[in-house]
Amino acid sequence: MADYDPGEVNRQLADLTKQPEPNLRNQPITPERYFSKEWMEREWDTVWTKTWQIACLESELANIGDYTTTTLGTERILCVRGDDDQIRVFYNVCQHRGLELMKDECGNEKRLTCPYHAWTYDLKGTLKFVPDEADFEQGSPCGKLNLVEMKSEVWAGFVWYNMDDDCAPLRDYLGPIADQIDTYPMQEFRRTHWVTVEGDFNWKLVQDNFSESYHVPFVHPDAKFTLEYGREDCQFDHYSEGHCRMLMPGGGPAAAVKGGEKETLERMAKELEFWELDPADYEGGKTRNIRKDLQRAKRKLGEAKGYDFSSYHDDQLTDNWHYTIFPNLSFSLKPESNIWLRARPHPSDPEKCLFDMWFMVLFAKGQTEYYSYVMGDTISTETVVPHMQGKDHEVTTGPAIDEDLEIWPQQQRGLHSRGYKRDYLASQESRMRYFHETLEDWMAR
Ligand code: FES
Ligand SMILES: [Fe+2]
Repeated sequence: MADYDPGEVNRQLADLTKQPEPNLRNQPITPERYFSKEWMEREWDTVWTKTWQIACLESELANIGDYTTTTLGTERILCVRGDDDQIRVFYNVCQHRGLELMKDECGNEKRLTCPYHAWTYDLKGTLKFVPDEADFEQGSPCGKLNLVEMKSEVWAGFVWYNMDDDCAPLRDYLGPIADQIDTYPMQEFRRTHWVTVEGDFNWKLVQDNFSESYHVPFVHPDAKFTLEYGREDCQFDHYSEGHCRMLMPGGGPAAAVKGGEKETLERMAKELEFWELDPADYEGGKTRNIRKDLQRAKRKLGEAKGYDFSSYHDDQLTDNWHYTIFPNLSFSLKPESNIWLRARPHPSDPEKCLFDMWFMVLFAKGQTEYYSYVMGDTISTETVVPHMQGKDHEVTTGPAIDEDLEIWPQQQRGLHSRGYKRDYLASQESRMRYFHETLEDWMAR
């Protein structure tokens, strides 16, 4: 596998160039794709088994013998750091009689031993021991059978895998957004929240939702006090690889907000004070000055406070740069924290999925606490990250994403109605249409 070399990181200022508008076919996004088993099976063959996916964080595999497991639909995935220090990704299945090999979500082992008949693999996946080796008339399986490895790469602090042996390298798959994401030292971010929701909705409703900001003022009524969502004031980019970007100015209220000064200052007080700005200075109709003042304060004080902002454009210091990577990943990047979201398909039911949320924090040197108004929480370096899992309402993904989670089961029910035939999208929902057209193109290959 190609290992990640931090020396190669392109920490240039990110490119803000607006991409040309795509030529969209504007075919109907018919509802069947959200509940048809046949559609789900075709997605498995043409998309899930061909596209790059994240298995785990590189930091989960810090030591030789560390392993993690995850799933994608019916598939079981095993990541291991070998004794040659290389990370490999395998199908998590014993070659004897098909048992799922490692059942814990993580651990550390010297050898990988199947619990059924004790076939034992080394950390490179080579079968090293089978009981009663002389009892195989067809010859010992050792030297013949090994764990089956898939393509993998380590990039941006994550371990990525692709089940397609003929796939393009990850960077080619990502295109120019890879250089932009490289401006964030992702491998230094720590995961402080890790939640998986067993959702009663198709995975595409998640990607649809994070491909537009049209819903923001209605589903997230508080977001407008600290975030721009309006189509005139955000930049939407469609990349030819099928991925998208949305640049949403932050650090102050949306242009459409009338009043709301108290709400903006309340939400931003801790951040302003950290950057030695006085919230009272923005009373009396001056909250729109916050964004530029915050950018200047971060430039001036960043180094003293333990941050290196040298690779960022000024706008990155305050704004939400939101990316969607085809097929199922989206994330909002900020210099001190970011949120990663994705939905994985259910093994058999198109009306279910696993929705993952990771909140990642870059603690400044010497910093022990970080206040996030996205999470509505003060996060400490001591925070141990349990993997919280459950149905929605049993676990929380933070106040903002919980609001999105309210929508998807209700939409899944509505999509079955005889009274709904197809979408009717606004221009600012073009990234959602682009996602569906990209999906259709992959499925037609
Ligand atoms: S199935 Fe793994 S050793 Fe038998
Ligand atoms: Fe939302």
